[in-house]
Amino acid sequence: MFRFFTAGESHGEALVALVSGVPAGVGVEQEFLDRELWRRQQGYGRGGRMKIERDTARILSGVRQGKTIGSPIAILLENKDWKNWQESLPVGEGDPAKHKRVASPRPGHADLAGALKYNFPEARYVLERSSARETAARVAAGAVAKLFLRELGFEVLSHVVAVGAVAVGREVRWEEIAQLHDREEVLLNCADADAEQRMKAEVDKTVEARDTVGGVFEVRAHNVPPGLGTYANWDERLDGLLAQAVMSLQAVKAVEIGSGITAAGAMGSIVHDEIGYAKEGGAFTGFTRTANRAGGLEGGVSNGEDIIVRGYLKPISTLRRPLGSVDFETREPVKAAYERSDVCVVPAAGVAAEAMVALTLARCALEKFGGDSIAETKRTHAGYLEQLKRY
Ligand SMILES: Cc1cc2nc3c(=O)[nH]c(=O)nc-3n(C[C@H](O)[C@H](O)[C@H](O)COP(=O)(O)O)c2cc1C
Repeated sequence: MFRFFTAGESHGEALVALVSGVPAGVGVEQEFLDRELWRRQQGYGRGGRMKIERDTARILSGVRQGKTIGSPIAILLENKDWKNWQESLPVGEGDPAKHKRVASPRPGHADLAGALKYNFPEARYVLERSSARETAARVAAGAVAKLFLRELGFEVLSHVVAVGAVAVGREVRWEEIAQLHDREEVLLNCADADAEQRMKAEVDKTVEARDTVGGVFEVRAHNVPPGLGTYANWDERLDGLLAQAVMSLQAVKAVEIGSGITAAGAMGSIVHDEIGYAKEGGAFTGFTRTANRAGGLEGGVSNGEDIIVRGYLKPISTLRRPLGSVDFETREPVKAAYERSDVCVVPAAGVAAEAMVALTLARCALEKFGGDSIAETKRTHAGYLEQLKRY
């Protein structure tokens, strides 16, 4: 059974990702994991934290001689900032005077709800675990999922569709997204150079106003065969699984599959992708579609087109000009606590969402094809593709 967990606090010693259920024999290159972690740290509008951390994945178990061995894979990511925090966040009792309180809950964060839930007198421990630093561990786990999916020819990538009020406003081809992935300098991970410059100006404007900005990223999964997920049970529908996976990312407030949001206001005759059957040199070659507005999913099942999932991010909750709050102790009105923070994280959130989509697809692919070794998985996968060809 394919599963994954993350553990770790934002300013604790390390983050940990645990991935279980990956078949034996999948090649795992450390450089690939580190490159994915690097991608998550990029983007115009990130704050000071990203200058301190340069994440690297230390694989502790489950990989030997460069290949998975079927046992759980544990990955450790050190928090470089730990040296500045070990006295204020010790595992042992430590010196209470060194504790760094989050004295007033920040609106838009888990601070208040979390403190009430766990009965903490202030929000330090809430901040520590609810912080999006946790997405680094998801990206490490997602990198393993991507390496597994690559064995079957699936690719998962993202690009930025909007930052604040600035949107791309045109269709983006898979090849354009793939090119973005090779860039050594990431600005806003937008496939349209002109829109990217306008997005940069939007971030500059936001910084000047000492405010924050949200946006929209899009994740695409390429080369996924029809038949992953099922309409048979509500909790096995691939659209539902992907929506939950992406919605679970910090600051994502809406998830769209294909053109779902505009589809709600359009006529059915415009929305649905008509079906054809292609002929080449007199021979039929397979089913075709006039478009992919469904985002590769119909009835909760992949239909063979690219899977398209968009995440809508609210603006970052920590502002340089803090919003109104209340002191936990005195209950007097104060400005919310400020801790070093990003201004725009849409490209990074897209990379974290790639991880979530890859982890979800890995689970569904293993449910469909099974296999304790990658050779076994590939045999079933190849047999299924053969069946589709003969259909
Ligand atoms: C990659 C990434 C980086 C983030 N960085 C910050 C940050 O530096 N400061 C901040 O206040 N919020 C940041 N956020 C957003 C918060 O984590 C988010 O607003 C918070 O968890 C509350 O949103 P929720 O209700 O969806 O969890 C980031 C989100 C992501 C996805």
